[in-house]
Amino acid sequence: MTDTWQVEPSEPLRGDIRVRGSKNAVTKHMVAAMLTGMPSTIRNAPEVGDVDITTAMLESIGYHVGRSGDEITVEPGTSVEPRVPEAFTGLNRIPILMLGPLLHRTGEAFVPLVGGDPIGRRPVDFHVSVLQALGAEVEVGPAGISARATRLHGARIDLPYPSVGATETVLLSAVLAEGKTVLRGAATEPEVVELALFLQRMGAHIELSPDRRIVIEGVPRLRGASTTLAGDRIEAFSYLVAGLITAGEVRVHGCPQDRLVTAITTLARMGAQFDITDDWIRASAPDALRPAAVHTDTHPGFMTDWQQPLMVLFTQADGMSVLHETVFENRLVYVPALQSMGCEIEVFRACLGGPACRFHDTNATHSAVIRGVSKLRGADVTLPDVRAGFSAVLAAAVADRPSTLRGIHHIERGYHRPFDQFTSLGLTLRRG
Ligand code: EPU
Repeated sequence: MTDTWQVEPSEPLRGDIRVRGSKNAVTKHMVAAMLTGMPSTIRNAPEVGDVDITTAMLESIGYHVGRSGDEITVEPGTSVEPRVPEAFTGLNRIPILMLGPLLHRTGEAFVPLVGGDPIGRRPVDFHVSVLQALGAEVEVGPAGISARATRLHGARIDLPYPSVGATETVLLSAVLAEGKTVLRGAATEPEVVELALFLQRMGAHIELSPDRRIVIEGVPRLRGASTTLAGDRIEAFSYLVAGLITAGEVRVHGCPQDRLVTAITTLARMGAQFDITDDWIRASAPDALRPAAVHTDTHPGFMTDWQQPLMVLFTQADGMSVLHETVFENRLVYVPALQSMGCEIEVFRACLGGPACRFHDTNATHSAVIRGVSKLRGADVTLPDVRAGFSAVLAAAVADRPSTLRGIHHIERGYHRPFDQFTSLGLTLRRG
């Protein structure tokens, strides 16, 4: 299928969107399912490229992955291979999370180098330290990471930054380790908690304590479990912004309000009005949107994956806005794509519009000043990553003439059926 969309300037986007589970939860649940010899089932799973990649990885090492509608079943075959093939190098962030489960299954593991979006150095040093603290011998080579351990042992672990992935490595490795693991500085993102709850259903002993502390008492074995994923807060936010930016109104179903608290408040400060029920959230903007100063943060702050749609929305707010990215040092790399569409954005190394962050004395370009209201132009743009890809669609929707967006697989890696969702809201787009 073609990897290009032609997007027409849009009338106000209106309608209903139902969001499924997030790519950043479903793939981790698939890895958790590796920890037992019994089948596990994940419902409300999105159809996204990352699920296909994770499925292929699991199948390559001996798991059966079944898919029926929104349901994914993972079950081990007769034997599990400890090596994830190098063919999966650089495709997503999931292989590093497989080290712990593979060590429990086979005593050894090799995973190829991880990829994901080019939004910073994205090192894996925390993951490696976690596995070493739990007693694994770990070797980082040019092709990937090898690990060995006859048995993992509980440990006290302090993360230097509340990394989502490293917290997941602790969860996925410590649940079957011998003894107690105490993790300090843990990430508390809803997707991390969702994974912990799934592991608890599988029989894990996990305590979520105050002050970013997670205590895990290892158990000898886990059983299969099933769960229904909560709706993706990144997709929910992105489609709410799609309505606002086109002066339309989108109603998003399936994402609990508590996953969007900071997002809703941020948009409300800009002048958006919300109707919120137990089932859906609707945003509209009867008057011109106001500018704002926003910094991204770990949960429950304004998440780094919300800043790309917000950046485009800022170009349509009346005045100067500021965006300060504090999670990934290189997450503004997509700005040139938006500038080519007429977005008036200037980027800075300084920490603007908020407290200094850990990138303050580095060369990281991680703040932006955005002028609105800008007239956006249709352009021929190559999408750099999944979230930036979505924001380019938003820019194209409010541009003066049609746009050609190349590299749509980036969007399809993380958003459930985006072509159908956008079409249902009234956006005119065609493939090719
Ligand atoms: N970090 C290290 N060393 C490590 C791990 C992380 O220095 O070993 C640093 C990172 O470089 C970054 C910070 O810690 O500066 C936070 O990274 P984190 O580990 O939390 O991110 P991640 O687990 O790699 C996940 C999501 C991202 C999302 C972030 C933050 C997945 C597959 N990815 O990444 O999602 O932005 O958490 O919430 O779950 C996306 O979906 O587009 C995406 C990039």
